[in-house]
Amino acid sequence: MSTSQDERPVPQPVRARAMGTHLDRQDGVAKVTGAATYAVEHPATDVLHAWLVTSTTARGRVASIDAGHALAHPGVEQVLDHTSAPDLADTEDRELAVLADDRIGFRGQIVAIVIATTSEAAREGAALVGVTEEAEAHEVVFDEHSSTYAPEEVNAGAETDTVDGDPDAGLSAAPVLVDRTYTTPFEHNNPMEPHATTAHWDGRLLTLHDSTQAVHAVRATLAPVLGLEPEQVRVTAPYVGGGFGSKGLPHAPQVAAALAALAVPGRTVRLAVTRQQMFALTGYRSATRSRVRLGATTDGVLLALRHDAVSQTSRIKEFAEQTATAARMMYAAPARATTHRVAELDVPVPSWMRAPGEMPGMYAHEVAMDELAVETGVDPVELRVRNEPELDPETGNPFNDRRLVDCLRRGAELFSWEQRPSAPQARLEGEWWVGTGVASATYPMLWMPDNTARVRALDGGRLEVAIGAVDIGTGARTVLLQIAADALDVPTDRVDLLLGDTDQPFATVAGGSAGTSSWGTAIAAAAERFRAEHGDEPAPGAASTATSGQYADTEGHSLHSFGAVFAEAHVHRFTGEVRVERLLGVYSVGRVLNPTTARSQLLGGLVMGLSAGLFEEGWRDPRSGHVVTQDLATYHVAANADVRDLRAEWLDETDHLSTPMGSRGIGEIGIVGTAAAVANATWHATGRRVRSLPLTPDHFLGVRPA
Ligand code: MOS
Repeated sequence: MSTSQDERPVPQPVRARAMGTHLDRQDGVAKVTGAATYAVEHPATDVLHAWLVTSTTARGRVASIDAGHALAHPGVEQVLDHTSAPDLADTEDRELAVLADDRIGFRGQIVAIVIATTSEAAREGAALVGVTEEAEAHEVVFDEHSSTYAPEEVNAGAETDTVDGDPDAGLSAAPVLVDRTYTTPFEHNNPMEPHATTAHWDGRLLTLHDSTQAVHAVRATLAPVLGLEPEQVRVTAPYVGGGFGSKGLPHAPQVAAALAALAVPGRTVRLAVTRQQMFALTGYRSATRSRVRLGATTDGVLLALRHDAVSQTSRIKEFAEQTATAARMMYAAPARATTHRVAELDVPVPSWMRAPGEMPGMYAHEVAMDELAVETGVDPVELRVRNEPELDPETGNPFNDRRLVDCLRRGAELFSWEQRPSAPQARLEGEWWVGTGVASATYPMLWMPDNTARVRALDGGRLEVAIGAVDIGTGARTVLLQIAADALDVPTDRVDLLLGDTDQPFATVAGGSAGTSSWGTAIAAAAERFRAEHGDEPAPGAASTATSGQYADTEGHSLHSFGAVFAEAHVHRFTGEVRVERLLGVYSVGRVLNPTTARSQLLGGLVMGLSAGLFEEGWRDPRSGHVVTQDLATYHVAANADVRDLRAEWLDETDHLSTPMGSRGIGEIGIVGTAAAVANATWHATGRRVRSLPLTPDHFLGVRPA
């Protein structure tokens, strides 16, 4: 074994005791009693409040800023603009180059920051700042006429285009061809807790109490932008009210909070991004357009497929949604091609939103599969079974344990699928057409390197486990405790888990459904080392730290999770309103480490998929580039009343090819395929095929009368 491998031990599988059982959410009481302090509530004295002033043009420059009236307002202490803000050391990332110069790259960009003694004064001051903008011609409309280019790679480092065999010849020769275009709208992350930071600069150390999915990434990204050493930036995130990817990468507001703190040394500045500002400043999912072509035999066996996807990026920074990647591995087809193109516009920077790529891509792919089922007269569950690959079509590797068929069969049983009439528009209940639909789900098992954990013996036989990971509401704090206890072979109540602080060892983002897998592997490695170095009776103070080597067998196997989603849609025969009365997901995700928190993750994903299916749609005014749907009234997110009979189940399994815990990630797969299952159910209910999201009532007006 080489030295570097010694430095990065690969842990043994962890024996499950606490893992797989219920453990109460460790921060549940603190959260429901209000004791949990979120970023903007971090206790502090001598507090100032910052408010963002944002651009009203989509492209141009700030000609002048008149801060006089704002500064005259009681309580306002400072107004920062591009002429007065502290200088940034690195402005290459234009999303983070806050107040660096006069350029305006999108409507809603930060052009000034008002700092005042109260939040109200800061807000009023912001309204009093006179900003003169010089507008230039802008392009903000993303549609089929947008000019596009091929990015060098797409999100998560995936290849832009792939081709296997001769898909075009295969499609021309196929007895059955589905060739359809599907669109998804702009979707905006709306975690309960808007983005917020409490910031403090003491002249040497910048402390950010931040609402983030990755404290270490905020430090690593912001320090060079601000011209600080990483050690000069401390980031904490003890409690985070959701993120869904929008808090996975640092965005402009964190830079703004840091600039404000640097401008008032020794004081503490709170910056709370408003719900409206989130629609421009904290990332969103681009609209997508997918042309999907499926060539098949008359029995529904795929011969060739193409998925050609287009999305939108920002002129100031590229982000390319990996919409077509799932089509590369999902079904067996001897010839396959995928492409990604992006349109570059004067718009905010798109970013991560729960299952970037898989969510819009599998919507398109799985509606296309439903259309193929209709064309061939094969049952939609059976059609998917017929196209099961033996090996990963993309890599040729065996799968870890591909159990999509088991998910489909179990779901069909739970959903009484066999009673489903094959013809559409077969059931009218009162004034509602009723139909059911199915779709597959998949998400890769991702693992991120460099995660490090530290185990330390405390007085009284307690053990402390520290890792700079973040629980954004997922249950990581609870599940990591279970992993740590099992890896140390002690009960959970003997372990103190520390997380959410850059003072703790390096941890990667709570994203890519990779948190628990990656952090847990590091905890297992550190626990193993601790037990080897200090035995069963460690002296107080004894400590071991380990950065885990890669456990997941990504070389030998194709590691993925799978699922099957079943939906029952009721479509009102006169108004076109859609209600999803039943929604079920059955998942193969490896060992479920805590059934309580896992179910919550899967149900949350299903609800978010339902929400995308029925409601969520961002609209931008072409004249100004303004996102007009910038609140929860005009951008409706599924609420309690929208969710009826909702269930998530999983297969009993343990995946020791993926992690020492036997688990895989569960954060994102719940949203994948869900909107397609709903769309397919509305076809079955009404006979009307809708190829765009969301499935708003207008699509179902005038369906064939009963
Ligand atoms: Mo999630 S979109 O990977 O934070």
